[in-house]
Parts: sequence; C-alpha cells; structure tokens
Amino acid sequence: MTDLPDLSTTFTGIRFENPFLLASAPPTESESNINRAFEAGWGGVVTKTIGLHPVDNVVGPKTKFVRLDDGGSRLSMAKRADSTLLASWNWELISDKPLEWWIPRLTTVKRAWPGRVLVASIMAGSGSDEELRHWQTLTSAVQDAGVDAIELNLSCPHMDRVDMGANIGKDPVLTSVVVAAVRAVARVPIWVKLTPAASSIVEEAGAVFHAGASAVSSSNTFPALPPIDPETLEFEVNVDGRVSYGGLGGPAILPQSLAKMAEMTQAFPDREFSGIGGISTFDHALSYFMLGCGTVQVATAAMLDHAIGPNVITDLRTGMAEFLDRNADRGWHSLADFRGLRRGSVVPHARIRRPDAAGYKGGYEDDAEGYAAAEALAAGR
Ligand SMILES: Cc1cc2nc3c(=O)[nH]c(=O)nc-3n(C[C@H](O)[C@H](O)[C@H](O)COP(=O)(O)O)c2cc1C
Repeated sequence: MTDLPDLSTTFTGIRFENPFLLASAPPTESESNINRAFEAGWGGVVTKTIGLHPVDNVVGPKTKFVRLDDGGSRLSMAKRADSTLLASWNWELISDKPLEWWIPRLTTVKRAWPGRVLVASIMAGSGSDEELRHWQTLTSAVQDAGVDAIELNLSCPHMDRVDMGANIGKDPVLTSVVVAAVRAVARVPIWVKLTPAASSIVEEAGAVFHAGASAVSSSNTFPALPPIDPETLEFEVNVDGRVSYGGLGGPAILPQSLAKMAEMTQAFPDREFSGIGGISTFDHALSYFMLGCGTVQVATAAMLDHAIGPNVITDLRTGMAEFLDRNADRGWHSLADFRGLRRGSVVPHARIRRPDAAGYKGGYEDDAEGYAAAEALAAGR
C-alpha cells in the first residue's frame, strides 16, 4: 500500500501516520497483537487498560456478538450463517496482566515502531489518596516506558466499586480530581475516555478539559444485557444463571455514539476528540470526522477481522485516500480540510424547517415507512 497519499494528521500535538487507532480492547491486549496491528498499518493503538488491582475474569466467554438473521427478526448471540452483526456485548475486565508485565513490552514495541503512536490506557480508583497515587504510579511507569500519550479509562461499565470506571466518569468532581492527579506527574498528553452513561457527557467533558486533559475519547460501550433465550429462559450469556451489566459495542452504537460526540464537539469546538463506536469502514469514520473528531478508534470490527483488523485498516486507509481523491477539487488534501464540517448542522428541533401551510403533509410525503395513512391530513387539518 505504498502508493497511498499522505494521510497524516496531528492530534494532541502527536503526529499520526493516519488517524486510525485500535481502541483499548482484546486487539491491543498483548505485544504480539500490537506488533501485528502496526504491521497491518494502524496509525496508533490504545493498549488494553492497565491497572494495579488483581483481575479475575468471569467463567466462560468474556465477549459475544449479537447477530440478526438476514431478512428475519431473530436476534441472538448464537453464531450462525445468514446473519448480520448488530453489536458486541462484553463483560471483560481490564487487562489481567500486571503493570510489571506491560512495562518492558511497551518499551520494546515503541522502540520497534517509533513512527506509530502508542497510547497506554490506565485505570485506578478515586476513593482515597492511595488510589489517586495509583493513577500517578501508572502514569509515571507507562510514560517512562516510552508511550506517546495516556488514556484514562473513566468509563469501564462493569465496575461494582463506586469510585472506579464508569462510576468516576459519571461524576464531574471525581473526574476532575483524577485528571488533576494525573496531570501533576504527566509529561505526555492526557486523553480521557468518558462513559456514554453519564447524565451529562458535556459536563463531564468540561470537567476533564478544565482539569488539564488534552482530548476526550468517546464512546466506551453502552450499558447492556444479553437477550434471554426463549427456550431455556436463561440470559444467552450467564454463569450459573446469573449475569451482570456488560457493555454494548459495534454497529448498533454508532448513531448513539455520534449523538454523544456531537454534544461535546459543539460545546467545545476548539478541543480535541477521538471518536469511537461502531466503526468498520471509512464511511463510518467520516461521520465522526465531520463532527470534529481528529482521530477515530476501532474495537469490535477489528476483533472479528483476524483479531486485529488487517482488512478494516486497509479499508479505512484506502477509503480515506479515495475520499481525498474524490474531493481534491474542493481543496481537501488532509483531514484538517474537512474536519468538523457538519458540527453546526445539529440544531435544536425548533430550528428544523417546517413546510408552509399549503405544502403541509405532516411528514407523509414519501409514504413514510412505519406510519399508517395520514388521517389527520385527510380530516382537513
Ligand atoms: C471485549 C471488549 C473489551 C474492552 N475492553 C476495554 C478496556 O479494557 N478499556 C477500555 O477503555 N475500553 C474497552 N472496551 C471498549 C472499546 O475500546 C470501545 O470503546 C467500544 O467497544 C466501542 O467501540 P466499537 O464499537 O468499535 O467496539 C472494550 C470493548 C470490548 C468489545
């Protein structure tokens, strides 16, 4: 793929060969995966989240994929032919490898790939000074190992503890405290991954930027449960009949994740954002770029493509190259030339045009799918 045009971009002061990263998830859980990812052409990777607490995953599968029968209505996690991916569902915890395992590997990977961007995702609690020191220990260790940036995981959806993961990201005070603690020791840009479960993601983003973060990454997975099997009457994923809230990713979350992103990029048009959720092609990534994102990240699609997404990254890169080629006459030669172009198109409902009285058809113009005949109209509105 040497004949591709220059797709490089700068994000949080870091040069990226291309704006496409693997998100923190199984594709980035090991040195060998990360090496394979860079060989395949990813511009950057965010490591699987690294913490200091011991991690024991549940019995059985940590991730399943929700599929819909082609042309049918059965929605199930059963792997089968003639079905289409709707979403991933996972209740995987952060990396079960300790910090000491990661450090030499981060150093080796960065030395081998100086031109690619290595971001370490880290997580600790927030309920005590000791927990805040954990954030600082993690930050110092990964930046000494050579990472280009850190991403604070304030969005893991499977936390029982009230001072961890998404429970931090739902509280602007805890969010600021954690970012400020990290800022006190960080020499590299701080990205913060927020949860879409926050009641106001704009408030969270404001707190994060105010405390010194360089970028917000969004979305992490949305809180979700697996469907119940109509035969066994059990959740399709369960251990001894029990399940817990997990996270939904993949195609189903793209529109929801775009909505979260639009709220934030409108509130903070001069800030930097990394878009995540449901991306598997350049067309998907384009929606995030048009809202103002400077990079995008991929998890589910990469998992289902040889575990690290060689075909996905090829599509993203060639798709962007073709897009730039198609739009060269507009003077678009890099992401900066079209980034944020549709940010202003999301407006309050009252600002959407209504037809004049004579032309009023109440939205039934095209035999609108999902609606019965326009009775109100027939009755002479
Ligand atoms: C199996 C699995 C494990 C994940 N683990 C992490 C994690 O350790 N840290 C994190 O910040 N996000 C984690 N995520 C969330 C992803 O990074 C991403 O935000 C989410 O899946 C949405 O992107 P997607 O639609 O491309 O999957 C995980 C996602 C999946 C599917």
